[in-house]
Amino acid sequence: MRHTSDHLEEGVDVGEQTLPTACSSVSRAGHGDLLRFSKILDLSHDLLILAECSNGRIVDGNRTACTRLGYEYDQLTRLHLDRILSSRVMERVRGMLTLQGAEFAEITGELITSFGEGIPGEIVLQRMLREDACYLAVVIRDSGRLMRVQEDKLRLEQQLLEARRMETIITFAGGLAHDFNNLLQIVSGNIQILGLKNRDANLKRHIQAIEQATLTASQLVQRLRTISRKGERSKHLVHLNDVIREVLRLRKQHIPEKVVVDLQLDSSLPGILADGVHMEQLFFNLLQNALDALDGQGRIHVATCLQELSSEDAHAYGDLKPGPYVRFSFADTGQGMVEEVRTRIFEPFFTTKKAGEGTGLGLSTVYAIVRDHEGHVTCRSVPGQGTTFRFLFPAVPEAAVPQEHRGMDSQA
Ligand SMILES: Nc1ncnc2c1ncn2[C@@H]1O[C@H](COP(=O)(O)OP(=O)(O)O)[C@@H](O)[C@H]1O
Ligand SMILES: [Mg+2]
Repeated sequence: MRHTSDHLEEGVDVGEQTLPTACSSVSRAGHGDLLRFSKILDLSHDLLILAECSNGRIVDGNRTACTRLGYEYDQLTRLHLDRILSSRVMERVRGMLTLQGAEFAEITGELITSFGEGIPGEIVLQRMLREDACYLAVVIRDSGRLMRVQEDKLRLEQQLLEARRMETIITFAGGLAHDFNNLLQIVSGNIQILGLKNRDANLKRHIQAIEQATLTASQLVQRLRTISRKGERSKHLVHLNDVIREVLRLRKQHIPEKVVVDLQLDSSLPGILADGVHMEQLFFNLLQNALDALDGQGRIHVATCLQELSSEDAHAYGDLKPGPYVRFSFADTGQGMVEEVRTRIFEPFFTTKKAGEGTGLGLSTVYAIVRDHEGHVTCRSVPGQGTTFRFLFPAVPEAAVPQEHRGMDSQA
């Protein structure tokens, strides 16, 4: 298995990629009639890859190839074949890249995903000459597809259960915060009166300590109320790339020298209808956790792109509607999490940090913000290797933004 940091060198985040990626709307230019049927090829459940014989570089791949191998189209088409084929398959392929080698071969072998996972498959190799260049077509029949469809169904059921559990916890926390807030108002009101009436210098110290504790408690309650409040955010057109750049700018001096932040932001990304302040909060919380997990060194990889969800894709995400989405992924090469931690991270007050270092409210806030923006979040993590969060938010084409919401992005 390759190291996580190697992946990030290529601009690829860590964690198993089980969700469809944004490879459907790629523009494939410059390879003549070979790619004329690219739209149809995207419908195939087989992985279809085309590489140049002269240097073994991949020049094209269909949507299934991107999804299964866990790369964006632009990443896949930068790779050499040896990054996606096991060394045993590569031995065979090398011979075929020269005109002296066999023109056709059918073998069984392993593919390697961006995550380093091996997938067994039946591989058909065909060398072809087109105009003045020589290409190797690689067709991989993915034998485990049916099994995965079954797994996806199970995963979806799991996600729905998880969402229901979170809803229960959040409603409970919200109710508690509401009642607690009322009590705190009484405490702080009375303590203020006491402070005004008090003439005793000794008592003043105690009153101030109570005032301070009340303030901290009401800030905590406020955060809980933010989590439990539904749909009460003021939304405008927000460009996620701006949010990311702004928070990174503000937090620059808190990022240790040995932490490298890679940005792969799609410059033509559409906006989302969002509360800019909450989006900043979401990114800030992720960044803070990543910095804690990195402990002074490693990489953070942040990527955005447009993803078109077909009705089949949308179904795999539970309650999302088909359409264009802004996809945002945030990966770090930090300490990662064991499964028992990963499944609880969105719960309010869940923390593995020492008292005083973590409140356990960072990711529950993230979860609530995602829910309020009709988005979707998943987290994959490997202990000792890193963590990847992936988000989807409904994209808003500029033309569809109501007049009153325009021009208010980047103000967050
Ligand atoms: N990037 C990450 N890498 C490893 N563990 C993480 C990461 N992000 C969150 N966690 C885990 O999730 C827990 C909850 O995170 P959060 O809700 O932000 O609360 P806090 O940071 O206050 O502990 C953390 O205590 C940590 O165990
Ligand atoms: Mg945190």
